[in-house]
Amino acid sequence: MAGKRKASASDMDAKRTWNMLPSSMLERYELKGELGRGGAGCVLLAEAKDTGDRVAIKLCAAQEGEMPIIMKEGLMMKRVESENVARMIEFGCCANAGVAFFVIELLDGMTLHDIIVSRGPLPVQEACRVGLDVLSGLRDIHEAGLIHRDIKPQNIIRVPSKDDGREWTYKIIDFGSAVAALGPERFALPSFGGPYGSTSSSESQLEAIFAMIDLDGKGLIGSEEVLRMFHSLDIQVSPQHIDGFLVRHDADGDGKISGDEFAAMFTELATLPYSSHALKDEQAHHLKEVFDSLDINRDGHLSLSEIEGAFVQLNRQPSRQQLTWLMTKYDGNSDGQISEDEFRLMYGELVALQDSMNMQGTHGYMPPEQYNDMILSPASDVWSLGATLFRLVSGQLPFAVTGGTWGKGIIGDMNMQAPKLSHVVFGVPPVFEKIIERSLRKDSSERFRNAHDMREEMHQVYSQLTKA
Ligand SMILES: Nc1ncnc2c1ncn2[C@@H]1O[C@H](COP(=O)(O)OP(=O)(O)O)[C@@H](O)[C@H]1O
Ligand SMILES: [Mg+2]
Repeated sequence: MAGKRKASASDMDAKRTWNMLPSSMLERYELKGELGRGGAGCVLLAEAKDTGDRVAIKLCAAQEGEMPIIMKEGLMMKRVESENVARMIEFGCCANAGVAFFVIELLDGMTLHDIIVSRGPLPVQEACRVGLDVLSGLRDIHEAGLIHRDIKPQNIIRVPSKDDGREWTYKIIDFGSAVAALGPERFALPSFGGPYGSTSSSESQLEAIFAMIDLDGKGLIGSEEVLRMFHSLDIQVSPQHIDGFLVRHDADGDGKISGDEFAAMFTELATLPYSSHALKDEQAHHLKEVFDSLDINRDGHLSLSEIEGAFVQLNRQPSRQQLTWLMTKYDGNSDGQISEDEFRLMYGELVALQDSMNMQGTHGYMPPEQYNDMILSPASDVWSLGATLFRLVSGQLPFAVTGGTWGKGIIGDMNMQAPKLSHVVFGVPPVFEKIIERSLRKDSSERFRNAHDMREEMHQVYSQLTKA
């Protein structure tokens, strides 16, 4: 799971970073001002010199090797075409300067966060409108095979509506945390396909990334380059997986990956969990000790329950789903036996998974499963929208955020039901309270399955409220 970028936006000098953009960008766009900052990027206002059209340009700093992971924000956002999602116009990077840029449709308005902070909570009917719009956007995101993972008031912008019947339209921004919605099953797929499997290979952005890996410029990369790419991204995979990866994407069977084949491969790469956690020598030694102590019959393999025991000994109690996923991925021949090498990889990935959960999304808008295990689904976005709507009408989050390490306090709270909205704010219509309650169920299978299903219900609620 790719982490949110590490470089901080607050210390980015916007003007200086702007000047590091490739000349092809500087020739076409003129810097006009700053629009906002988030955790990772600064977003600037720019004007196209030929047409005078204004756009938002998001700049993100990238350290060496991080570039492909950062660029996935552009790839993901470009997959989605929706009235209620900001449009990604183009994106690219200047690898030498360590900066990625994303040219995005300008949304001339305020974020919902700024609105409630400056003017207080929204009326329920307007919150319903927000719900309907965000759910349209999320429906298109889910249909593109993605999960947004960072729905919150800061990432929703209100703009004047083009539609005569209404005053405002709400749009989703920020795909910096988005992932493919395939879940662990993707590793079990015989060939990588499905909604996330194909990316247009003509995208010049991908060519730039490919060029960074294809050092000798022959236009083909082999397993060595792929391995190097994995290493530079700190992605821990077994050699068998690299081979599988190559075979799957080497469409013409020449043993090499061409620029075209790379497009599909990169898309899969962007969905892999990754870790900045390379094992230190003493850790590797400790792992070996634990492994050996459990390998009682000395055949160099551990069974599933022994592996689980080893993780517990290492203070890394995995959830059932994490364990299943790791086994699917590393027990290549499904005999339930794990070698020491595989165990080391599994451990590295478990650490990455558990630690990365701390950084994903924003506390308070993150569903319980984002803390407890890694199986995220479209229903995870449903939860985040529920928390967002709860906040919009009440000014409060459904669960107290105590911060601290690993959201311990939050997990404590999340074992309880969300409070009733009507207990927090006076006069909420029961139909609205009910839909929020259902979107905030702890067990994701009890929520709306996805944005499509929740939108149907929200539509009913909205008609009832406007009739009354
Ligand atoms: N397309 C846009 N039009 C106008 N303002 C934007 C646009 N995209 C982002 N912003 C502003 O920049 C802020 C940060 O953008 P965002 O993509 O959320 O970055 P981060 O990934 O750092 O959170 C937003 O909260 C918003 O205020
Ligand atoms: Mg943001």
